Amino acid sequence: MRSHTCGVINTNHLEQEIDFCGWAHRRRDHGGVIFIDLRDHTGLVQVVFDPDRAEIFALAEQVRNEFVLKIKGRVRARPEGTINPDMATGEIEVLGLELSILNRAATPPFQLDDNDVSEEHRLRYRYIDLRRPSMQSKLRLRAKVTGELRRYLDDQQFIEVDTPTLTRATPEGARDYLVPSRTHPGSFFALPQSPQLFKQLLMMGGIDRYYQIARCFRDEDLRADRQPEFSQLDIEMAFVEEAQVMDLAEGMIRHLFDSVLDVKLPEAFPHMSYADAIRDYGSDKPDLRIPLKLTELSDLMQDVDFKVFSEPAKSPNGRVAALRVPGGSKLSRKDIDVYTEFVSRYGAKGLAYIKCNDVANGRDGLQSPIVKFFSDDALAAVMQKVGAEDGDLVFFGADKANVVADALGALRVKIGHDLDMVADEWAPLWVVDFPMFEWDEGGKRWHAIHHPFTAPTADTLEQWQSQLDENPATVLSKAYDMVLNGTELGGGSIRIHNSDMQQKALDVLGIGEEEANEKFGFLLDALKYGAPPHGGIALGMDRLIMIMSGASSIRDVMAFPKTQSASCLLTSAPSVVSDQQMKELHLRARARPTPENS
Ligand code: AMO
Ligand code: AMP
Repeated sequence: MRSHTCGVINTNHLEQEIDFCGWAHRRRDHGGVIFIDLRDHTGLVQVVFDPDRAEIFALAEQVRNEFVLKIKGRVRARPEGTINPDMATGEIEVLGLELSILNRAATPPFQLDDNDVSEEHRLRYRYIDLRRPSMQSKLRLRAKVTGELRRYLDDQQFIEVDTPTLTRATPEGARDYLVPSRTHPGSFFALPQSPQLFKQLLMMGGIDRYYQIARCFRDEDLRADRQPEFSQLDIEMAFVEEAQVMDLAEGMIRHLFDSVLDVKLPEAFPHMSYADAIRDYGSDKPDLRIPLKLTELSDLMQDVDFKVFSEPAKSPNGRVAALRVPGGSKLSRKDIDVYTEFVSRYGAKGLAYIKCNDVANGRDGLQSPIVKFFSDDALAAVMQKVGAEDGDLVFFGADKANVVADALGALRVKIGHDLDMVADEWAPLWVVDFPMFEWDEGGKRWHAIHHPFTAPTADTLEQWQSQLDENPATVLSKAYDMVLNGTELGGGSIRIHNSDMQQKALDVLGIGEEEANEKFGFLLDALKYGAPPHGGIALGMDRLIMIMSGASSIRDVMAFPKTQSASCLLTSAPSVVSDQQMKELHLRARARPTPENS
């Protein structure tokens, strides 16, 4: 139907007759001449219809926005003064010689160049939203990235293997999406939260190096960087230690940024222990573009006359820390109130602060609701430890250690953005030395920080047992996360390849032998038949492309994403099914769906 696409037509085509197709982006009538900007996936071109050609002029008059057109025309230079340097095709226009309307369009629900359309509206009419150049470029970048990654891994002797979508639950920490079985009444498949167990079984099957761009399903609370259905670049390797998996993943990402974005990432990504990340940044995915750090004050606050600080300072689970903001004393009372409300979302009960007007002047040079609680010595020690200078504002958090980390960690990022402190650079790193287990106060049990198949740093069961006897909270694992600009891009680990060790890990998590056999018997069996040492990683493709394209939500790099409440506005999924289907699946709804509960 076409000899050229719209966006490529330029002065090389002057006087040529060409055929092209697309959507009417805009139509303007100018004193007897009609201009139509025709748009396709490559861009826009201006077409002119003049009244001399009465028949096609009459047709051009009928054209409305988003009509689908096929045009034959002659390329000519734009008249002096009408050249548009902002447009790739801005030096030329095409004189329309033939026009066919391939399809009409109802008035679109929004204009493509309107940037204020609600996301709800965009998702309901996604097929129109996708016509926008910004969406086009993100999906095209996505295809380029997946192509480049596949090529890279193919070159490194990885093979792509598909794993099942209808499977059993794999514990990655979220709720499962379940699919009822028609042929096994009362039984359900789970959609995979990740291909974790299958990729381990592939290593036991001698595949050696596997990858897959795998669809994963997790029923969890959604945020800007989480979707119920998302893609991972999932990787597993046999006969490796941490360093080989990390080198492979790092080399691959460095190559990807270089080849797709022409960005040179640092030669070696820094490594940071989980403990240091929490201590200095209050986060296990620190954004190193922001030059602010937390200061630990628990040691200095044990004896102060301010219980809000001294109690958490003395408690083994408590913490007192400060965040120094250079130049922050210009913040108003109102700004501080907004930040106090912000940290309360992370469970903080307050946000004490000191404005440092004149540090050399001691107490009198400081403005704060809390200095009255400190002796001169304690105050001087705090100012010295945080490195306070005139013009600074120092915030304080005192609470359970995780509340202080979450609150001050999030505040650090927010203030970094609010005060324009985010360096214009790429800041990747590896977070390593993760603890294996975390105490879940609500459930009163240990919970795996990565997943229950991650190997401990201990080499033998005996060594590990003695660490566990001492304190399960301090046992470290062979897990690693790749972080870029404050986003967790991916995570992985070396796996347990010994069935006794695996059973032990499940024991610690409160999964006894019987339950373990019921849920993971196939894995425990497989571990007995010659499992090689192995490990891997999974990178969140949506997050990776979000960061590479500068999008602010992963929904913008997915063609058909779901809303925050995990529904699809375009197809109205999920939906009620017929009684007949329910019956076939041996299901009965506990409550008849009504407009209120459906
Ligand atoms: P993990 O659970 O850390 O590891 O997931 C790996 C990466 O997947 C991305 N991700 C998500 N992206 C979008 N929406 C979500 N809901 C979502 N959840 C996770 C993140 C994350 O870093 N089986 C292990 C990997 C392994 O050990 O090899 C796993 O799934 O970028
Ligand atoms: P109060 O004595 O309760 O008025 O608190 C004095 C200051 O300490 C106020 O600025 C509070 O915001 C702050 N504050 C109270 N509780 C905490 C806490 N747990 N962590 C940090 N600051 C707090």
